[in-house]
Amino acid sequence: MEPRFDVVQVTNRNLAMELVRVTEAAALSAGRWMGKGNKEMVDQAAVDAMRQALDGVDMSGVVVIGEGEKDEAPMLYIGEQVGNGNQPEVDVAVDPVDGTRPLSQGVPGALAVVAIAERGSMYAAPPGVFYMEKIAVGPALKHVIDINAPVAVNLDRIARVREAHIDDLTVVILDRPRHQEIIRQIREIGARIRLISDGDVAAAIQAAMEDYTGVDVLMGIGGAPEAVLAAAALKCIGGEIQCKIWPRNDEERERFKQDGIDLNQVYRTDDLVKGNDVSFAATGISGGELLDGVKYFGWGARTSSVMMRSRSGTIRYIQARHQWRRKSQVMPHPPLQEAAE
Ligand code: FBP
Repeated sequence: MEPRFDVVQVTNRNLAMELVRVTEAAALSAGRWMGKGNKEMVDQAAVDAMRQALDGVDMSGVVVIGEGEKDEAPMLYIGEQVGNGNQPEVDVAVDPVDGTRPLSQGVPGALAVVAIAERGSMYAAPPGVFYMEKIAVGPALKHVIDINAPVAVNLDRIARVREAHIDDLTVVILDRPRHQEIIRQIREIGARIRLISDGDVAAAIQAAMEDYTGVDVLMGIGGAPEAVLAAAALKCIGGEIQCKIWPRNDEERERFKQDGIDLNQVYRTDDLVKGNDVSFAATGISGGELLDGVKYFGWGARTSSVMMRSRSGTIRYIQARHQWRRKSQVMPHPPLQEAAE
């Protein structure tokens, strides 16, 4: 029998509660650069704020997934120690801005993301591996998908479990030339497609929360760091992500083979993030379907975040109102009208 709520023990620190302050800080700083056409400043603002906020978290963290290598952006370096040095010892995965390009262009969809898990539990892709092929779904479809199966087979299985027509399924996929063939196959079988310009961490979460978002499955190739962040979130939600390392060209394929990288290996949720003590937080920056963006209003701003914890499976949405005057420690520079005072 399921335990009743009144006898469920509310114990243990919930690090996700602390992490949400980290993603809020990154979002508040990076959001200032929305639409200004400067990707570097978007990243820099988010990284600086995130680093400072992470150091206030009661943990001894090591950055295992640090974003930015791919486009030589400023980053929280892999191996960097974060947190105040207290227990617990954890791996930290960060993406200070998932969607740097859309944020700098003023397009919706950017999030600040952080996940932590027990030390040694997060998968670090070998150096030089930037992309993974991915398929991600929610709890009901966890045992149904197979990244090695043809698109038509996966969609057929999903439709059966959903008791839905394939035409009513929605596949979310990054809008990239490399996806031409998979898009052709999805269209051929008749499912609906939602193309996104960026941000496949949010897209994986949407697929895993299908009852809430109307997205059934994420397919296609995206960043390898984002696969681990998505796995952390899906572990909390109870969904599943399967990935394979994806070489961008023949030269990369050859190099990976020489380095002993097995391109057939399937990385599942539990391979990307082991154990069951995972915390995840994300805050909307430029706004999107999952979370609203930062809304600045002179003396403060509003943020919209989601936080999750694998142990309890609780997912919390947090709307926060921040006041600049009381918050100077997380804001790298004062808002415009205060600067003018
Ligand atoms: P960043 O903004 O963090 O660089 O990544 C955005 C993103 O859209 C990811 O969500 C996705 O996994 C990856 O880029 C896809 O890479 P590419 O833009 O090179 O196709």
